[in-house]
Amino acid sequence: MAEEMVQTEGEQLEDPILEHEGYDDTESIIGIWGHPLHAMSVAFPVALTFCTFGADALYWWSGELFWARAAIWAAGTAFLFGLAAGATGTAELLMVPGIRIRAPAWSHFVIAVLLLSILGANWGYRLQGFEAAVLPYGILISGFSVLVVMVTGWHGGKLVFDYRLGTSKGS
Ligand code: HEM
Repeated sequence: MAEEMVQTEGEQLEDPILEHEGYDDTESIIGIWGHPLHAMSVAFPVALTFCTFGADALYWWSGELFWARAAIWAAGTAFLFGLAAGATGTAELLMVPGIRIRAPAWSHFVIAVLLLSILGANWGYRLQGFEAAVLPYGILISGFSVLVVMVTGWHGGKLVFDYRLGTSKGS
């Protein structure tokens, strides 16, 4: 039995991922005139996550109600735009065979869902009283979401620049 499992000389091992017929099928299909929607939409939640932290910090520094109000709007829009960006990314993940078969694409999905749940919590927590929510927990959640959005964005960038996922191969 043990001898049967020993690889015979010259025999090639097959990687079922590399051998998959859709492995090289990695072009973006969720887009407008060939421009990928996910890449276009992620800028909004990324920027708004930073804005939420910035508004919280300015409220802490100045005590101005304006900044607490700005923070709840930034937190809410970060979450809603994040959901929209997540929808375009999920469609790409599920519909493009060469993206779907690669483990790093699924890792990005897991990190992004963590981010979306933190963004949702940050907004939901403020709905009961947006001024009282800022210190200390609002700004702590905002600080944490800044860290997670950086990891998510960096990892998404790796999918594009290292693995060339969601790109066009040209005509
Ligand atoms: C929740 C589900 C998500 C999935 C399944 C997903 C999937 C993907 C995939 C497959 C790519 C490769 C490019 C493409 O095919 O479009 C990508 C790129 C990227 N993702 Fe996501 N993503 C999700 C959410 C997010 C979120 C919430 C963010 C940030 C707020 C994000 C940030 C990025 C960035 C920055 C890139 C690189 C874009 C570029 O440089 O062109 N993703 N994502």
